[in-house]
Amino acid sequence: MSGHLVLGIETSCDETGVALVRGPDRPDRAPELLVDDIASSVDAHARFGGVVPEVASRAHLEAMVPTIERACARAGVRLADVDAVAVTAGPGLVGALTVGVAAAKALALGLGVPLYGVNHLAAHVAVDTLEHGPLPEPAMALLVSGGHSSLLLVEDVTDRVTPLGRTIDDAAGEAFDKVARLLGLGFPGGPVIDRVAAGAGEAARDAIAFPRGLTSGRDLERHRYDVSFSGLKTAVARWVERQEAAGVPLPVGEVAASFQEAVVDVLTRKALLACREHGVDTLLIGGGVAANSRLRVVAQERCDAAGVRLRVPRPGLCTDNGAMVGALGSLLIGAGRAPSGLATPVDSSVPVTTVVLRPDPAR
Ligand code: KG4
Ligand code: ZN
Repeated sequence: MSGHLVLGIETSCDETGVALVRGPDRPDRAPELLVDDIASSVDAHARFGGVVPEVASRAHLEAMVPTIERACARAGVRLADVDAVAVTAGPGLVGALTVGVAAAKALALGLGVPLYGVNHLAAHVAVDTLEHGPLPEPAMALLVSGGHSSLLLVEDVTDRVTPLGRTIDDAAGEAFDKVARLLGLGFPGGPVIDRVAAGAGEAARDAIAFPRGLTSGRDLERHRYDVSFSGLKTAVARWVERQEAAGVPLPVGEVAASFQEAVVDVLTRKALLACREHGVDTLLIGGGVAANSRLRVVAQERCDAAGVRLRVPRPGLCTDNGAMVGALGSLLIGAGRAPSGLATPVDSSVPVTTVVLRPDPAR
C-alpha cells in the first residue's frame, strides 16, 4: 500500500493526540507527517500535582471527535481518504487507552479500513523516522517519560524490540515531577526544572553531589542497564529538609541543576554502556524527558566521544502525540505486518516485545 494515509490516535495518558501520516511511495523512505494535533488535559491535573486517571479519561472523551475533525481539516483530507487507523492499545492508563481504542475501532469499522492497536513504547521509537528518515537498525533506544524509563535494543521496530534495562523504582519523568513538587515548582516538573536549571548557570550543576544509583560496584554488575531514581529523590528531599531545619534559604537553582545533572549523567552512561557492549552505533532517545535540554547536550557530547550516532526527535515529538502512533502504523503497513483487527485488546501493561496487540486466540 504505497502512499497510504494513516490516522494515528494516542490517549495513553493525558494528551489526546491525533495525527495524519502519509506512507512513503518507496520502501527505503520514511513516512511523512501531514498534521499532528493535540488536546492536552495537563492543566486539569496540575492542581492535583499529577495525572488523575478519571479526569484524563473524561477529557479524552470530550476532545476526541473535535481533535480528529481539526486534524483532518488542517491536513486537507477527508476521513474517507484514510487507509488505516493506528491507535495506542498499551501500556498506559486503562481508562484513557479504552477511549482511544473505542474511537479507533468505530472509525475502522465505519471506514472499512484495517486497525492496528500498537505499543506506546515502540511508537516513541518510530516517531523519529518522521524527522530523521529510516532508522538504522539495530539501534539502542532510551525511552524516558513520566511512566517509563527503559533501554531497548531495537532490531526491527515493527517486530523485534528487546528490553535490556528499566527503572527498578521511579521513572525519570516521575523523579522530575516529584523533585519539582518538593521545590514548589509545580506540575509537570520536567520543563520547569529544565528552565530553572538552565537559568542557574554552569557551576550550579556540580554544586551538590547527589547520588548516581546503580552505576558502580555490585549494583552495576547486578543492574547493568537498569536505572534507579528513588534514592536520588530521597537524597534531594533530605538535603532540602536539612536546609530548612537550618533556616537557610533554599538555593532552588542549584538543587534543580544538580538533580538534573545526576539524572542526565546516569541515563547517558547507561545508554552508552549498552551501545558499546552490544556493538550498536545508533542511539535514539525518546519520551517526554528526551525534551530535556541538558540531556540533549550531554548525550550529544558523549555520543560524539564514543562514535555513536545520536537521534533525538524535536521536543514536540518526544512528549506523547498522535504522530508517533501514525508513524508506527505506517511502518507496520510498509513491513507487511498483519493488522490487529476490530477485536484488538487494551492492555495497560503490555510488554514492549509485543509491538502490535492482537486478540487472545484462547478467548
Ligand atoms: O512521554 P510523556 O509526554 O508522557 C508519558 O508517557 O509519561 O512524558 C511526560 C514526562 C513528565 O514526567 C514530564 O515532567 C517530563 O516528561 N518532561 C521533561 C521535560 N519535558 C517533559 N522532563 C525533563 N525535561 C523536560 N524538558
Ligand atoms: Zn509516552
